[in-house]
This record gives sequence, structure tokens and C-alpha cells, in this order.
Amino acid sequence: MEVIIQQDAEAASLLVAKLIAKALRENPFLVLGLATGGTMEAVYAHLVRMHKEEGLDFSLCRTFNLDEYVGLPPDDPNSYRQYMQRHLFSHVNINPRMTHLPNGMAADLDRECDEYEKLIKRFGGVDLQLLGIGRDGHIGFNEPLSALLSRTRVKALTPTTVAQNAIYFGDPHKVPRRAITMGVGTILDARRCLLLATGAHKAEIVAKAVEGPVTAMISATALQLHPKCTVVVDEAAASKLQGHEYYRWIFQTEPEWAEFR
Ligand code: GLP
Repeated sequence: MEVIIQQDAEAASLLVAKLIAKALRENPFLVLGLATGGTMEAVYAHLVRMHKEEGLDFSLCRTFNLDEYVGLPPDDPNSYRQYMQRHLFSHVNINPRMTHLPNGMAADLDRECDEYEKLIKRFGGVDLQLLGIGRDGHIGFNEPLSALLSRTRVKALTPTTVAQNAIYFGDPHKVPRRAITMGVGTILDARRCLLLATGAHKAEIVAKAVEGPVTAMISATALQLHPKCTVVVDEAAASKLQGHEYYRWIFQTEPEWAEFR
């Protein structure tokens, strides 16, 4: 795992967008794993700008989102499908048929989860998986006690997650109680993972995820097992990391980061 500390949320999200853009330029057929949440909005805004101003081409890329609420149709404004439309898909030249999210309205949800896994495999697996982190340390919707080898499945959301997401729904009673999510094992299969966390409210969970013991109680800790995982944080989210001096030194001195300094 490598941790990159940027001055503020703007710089951190720009760096993440640049890493995605670089991967996409190197491989136009990139299989990109996508995430939702407030933190990602800035990343998608940068990607849209890069598409418009620099001609960043999405036409051949394929995407798989981490998760979707159970019981929300794709045209519901709070569905993650609509989130993706709003923040990325409708602003870039991506082929809509190459954008995938689990179907939270499927009559047979277990089957839908199996099909999602198979589809990811059929496309050759995820090359680059973008990740946020929930306040309880979940990645995707892998709530506490998610098996570290879990696959795509239905997960019940914790009261913390429901409360955290209630701001988008207005009424907390309208927040779905379950979601389909890629499993921790599904996420670990990605060739590269890229986690973005910003803001002081994420500092404690980032420290636990990066420097704490690996535990199913905090699914993000499983990323410590991944051979190529980059965690990008701003100063506020990095404030509780013990090894921050070492992480800064890596970013300042290692040749692979030269173009991003
Ligand atoms: C939701 C998503 C997660 C995301 C999290 C954090 O729970 N399922 O994938 O990481 O929100 O959201 P935010 O970026 O708004 O803090």
C-alpha cells in the first residue's frame, strides 16, 4: 500500500483524476471500477473537464460500479445509476452499454449478484478500482463483518451508513436498508485499487484502515493485502496517520510520482 498526502481535497481529487486519465490513455479498453459518494464528485468533475478540454476519450472504456441500492429503480434520482449519469456518464463519450451497475430491482437478487461477478470476469476483470471509504470503514457497501473473501452479494446497511446517506434522501425513512455490493474479495481481485478520502471526519477511519490491524470489522483494512493499492488523502484526512513523514518522502523522491509532483 502507498499513501499519498495532498494539501487539500481539491489537489487530492485532481491527483486521483490524473491517475485514472493516465490509465485510460495507456489502455483505452480499460475496465474501470467506479465508486459513488460525495468525495467522488470532484474526481468526476475533473474527468469531465479533461474530456472536454483535453479530449480524454472514454469511448472504448468499460465500467463496473461497486454497488447499488436494493429496491431503487435505475431512474430514481437517488439510485447510484442516476448518480453516475449526473456526475460522469452523461458528460463524456462513454458507451452507455458498457457501463454496468448491479440491478437492485432484480427479481432474483442472488442470481443478479452471481451474474455481476460473471460479467466482470467476462470483461477480463477490473483494471483499476476507484474506492471511497464510509465512516465505519466500509468499501463499496461492505459493512462490518463482511468476509474478507466475500463476493458480490446483498448486504444490510448499518444504521451509521443509513444515517450518513440520509442527507441525499431528505427523509431517513426513505433510505434503502439493503444494497448489492461487490464483495471485499471482488475488490481485491482488481489489478489496482485507488482509494480517495478527504476531510477531518475521515482521519480516524483512514488511520485505522491504513495502519491498523486487518479485520473484517473494517473492510478497508483488507486493502493492506492488495499488491497495488494507492491511498490518496488530503492533509485533514491524513492528520491521524503515524507514518505521514515516510509517506511524504516517498511521494517527493520516488521517480514514479515525479510527473504528479
Ligand atoms: C457510500 C458508498 C461508498 C462510499 C461512501 C462514502 O456508502 N457506498 O462506496 O465510499 O458512501 O461516501 P462519501 O464520499 O460521501 O463520504
